[in-house]
Amino acid sequence: MRLRPEEEQRIANILEPFKADNRVQRMKKFIQHGKITTFDHVESVTRLSFWLNRRLHIGGDERVLTVGAFLHDYYLYDWHLTDEGHGLHGFSHSNTAKENAIKDFAIGEKTQCVIESHMWPLNITKVPKCREAWIVCLADKFVSTKETLLCR
Ligand SMILES: [Fe+2]
Ligand SMILES: [Fe+2]
Repeated sequence: MRLRPEEEQRIANILEPFKADNRVQRMKKFIQHGKITTFDHVESVTRLSFWLNRRLHIGGDERVLTVGAFLHDYYLYDWHLTDEGHGLHGFSHSNTAKENAIKDFAIGEKTQCVIESHMWPLNITKVPKCREAWIVCLADKFVSTKETLLCR
């Protein structure tokens, strides 16, 4: 997967205000899979989502897609610590990420859907409702599988 310089720039422009935020930077402190931080993980998912949307001419809104992909795991805790009252991480974190993103960045409804449905089909009732949500759901599974296999 290769992004063109113009595409890299487009992603950087959209994410600039988010990356400059200290709360977003906290994702660098949490491990997603193996040695991969949540920040690295969401960057990979963002890039793959953007690439799929462009190369397959899916026509998803690039801002919704990019922000949704970047904040899809914005749950801000270490999911390996099970005693913090976060419940079953796999089921609950998409909602936590969505609530955090609303609180910190007032994200729109469509972006909320992207975050909320990224764990489908585990969260069986949260079916992706728009193409941006489908892209992020698929890209997250691909990236997560790759990261999990790499750390074995
Ligand atoms: Fe997730
Ligand atoms: Fe993820």
